[in-house]
Amino acid sequence: MIEHWIGGERIGSAQTFTDVSPIDGRVLTEVARGGAAEAERAVNAAKKAFPAWAGTSKAERAEILHAIADGVEKRLEELAITETEDNGALLRSHRRGVMPRVARNFRFFADWLVQLEHKDFDTRGHTNHVSWDPSGPCALITPWNAPLMLATWKIAPALAAGNTVVLKPAEWSPRTASLLADITADAGLPDGVFNVVHGYGPEIGEPLVAHPDIRRVSFTGSVPTARRIAAAAAANLTPISLELGGKSPLLIFTDADLDLAVDLAVEQYDNAGQVCLAATRILVEASIADEFTERFIAKASGLTQGDPRDEATDIGPNIHERQLAKIDGYVQRALGSGARAVVGGGPNEDLGGLYYRPTLLTNVAQDSEIVQDEVFGPVLTLQTFTAEEEAVRLANDTRYGLAATLATGSRDRADRVTKQLVAGTVWVNCFFVRDLQAPFGGARQSGIGREGGNWSFDFYCDVKNTVTAPKGWNDRG
Ligand code: NAI
Ligand code: MG
Repeated sequence: MIEHWIGGERIGSAQTFTDVSPIDGRVLTEVARGGAAEAERAVNAAKKAFPAWAGTSKAERAEILHAIADGVEKRLEELAITETEDNGALLRSHRRGVMPRVARNFRFFADWLVQLEHKDFDTRGHTNHVSWDPSGPCALITPWNAPLMLATWKIAPALAAGNTVVLKPAEWSPRTASLLADITADAGLPDGVFNVVHGYGPEIGEPLVAHPDIRRVSFTGSVPTARRIAAAAAANLTPISLELGGKSPLLIFTDADLDLAVDLAVEQYDNAGQVCLAATRILVEASIADEFTERFIAKASGLTQGDPRDEATDIGPNIHERQLAKIDGYVQRALGSGARAVVGGGPNEDLGGLYYRPTLLTNVAQDSEIVQDEVFGPVLTLQTFTAEEEAVRLANDTRYGLAATLATGSRDRADRVTKQLVAGTVWVNCFFVRDLQAPFGGARQSGIGREGGNWSFDFYCDVKNTVTAPKGWNDRG
């Protein structure tokens, strides 16, 4: 049984829900199904713990955050397997990439906090000193595609800032958040500074967001849920940070290294396509489209689909029946309106369950839903263009603006195209690499705000400017 973690105690709810594994449908655990009462209790715990935590020195907070990172590293194998069983993402990437990054989230923000400073401004002898003050309890609401990585990307800066936290992890993948609660307690984080509540979004997430004692809301997930969260936060004008979906393009020009371009394209099947940043729209210059497609098919057919605990597996299952139905609905409707599946095109019947075949669709119209909507599965579309301006126009023609990737051998072209792309992150001849000091977030309906480095502290803190006059001092101490 997974219970809430509130004020340093495990607390149950009258009702529970069942957490299953997408690998094989096995029941993993029952989980406490919280509501408004549990949200209230958790916010009260976070509020009570806030003054003491906000009053600790930066060095003290940094030390505890590093101790949490140590705990993550010590229990890395357990976290990796727990997450894989819960959300079906590859065990090998949890071991080698994701869980080490979870630890790094804590270390990075601990170190960044210590050196966080701003050059003072001077106005006619008056000093303007900028400081980042703790703001209070934060509500953090996170999704299931990278549960602990995305949660700690918010938890670490919130705690570093001197805030307290109530985390509401996604109901399809609640287990690693619960382990993290134990890790924070072992690391010496005082009771009530970090709280975890479980349950369905509308039942516990919404009262949490709407609570008048919540000072910040950070959310990663879907656009419709973001609208409800924004509306709930509006009651108290609580500042929100939203990292939402995307329909990002991968632009491939004739001057690109084609092997690299094919690698970048096939990489978009990672995590069974359940990646907000995924470049799911391949836009390739017409003169190289046939060769690209041929090489893509060859490379994609070499991918191994299966149990994500197996080291040889490249693509695991999708998270839930509801998501599988949504993905297949998009693909079948596209095929019904003239699209052609050159790779995949349906569920993996050999494996059954939640395994969807990596899919590439051609003959798709720019204004069709398969090109405009986030599918959040291993489904890519391929379109061609003949001129650079056309590539840019197609790339920018969705309601999203999270990321864009381009493959080109020309620096001039890269400069020109990059300037015109609407995206929070642009990758040139690479993908997914990012320094944690850099801003992360999206344009248009991909989100509001940026997190990372100073941007995280700008969001989680009450930024204060203290103006001090040169005159008025006396010697009375
Ligand atoms: P969702 O956005 O509904 O869920 C994300 C989180 O929000 C979960 O913790 C959920 O419990 C919570 N939530 C739901 N309703 C809420 C409410 N009214 N108030 C407060 N919290 C609430 O996403 P869902 O339904 O799991 O996935 C649907 C689609 O969303 C996916 O197919 C994908 O397109 C997109 N998505 C995007 C993600 C991203 O990384 N940007 C992550 C997950 C989903
Ligand atoms: Mg699960």
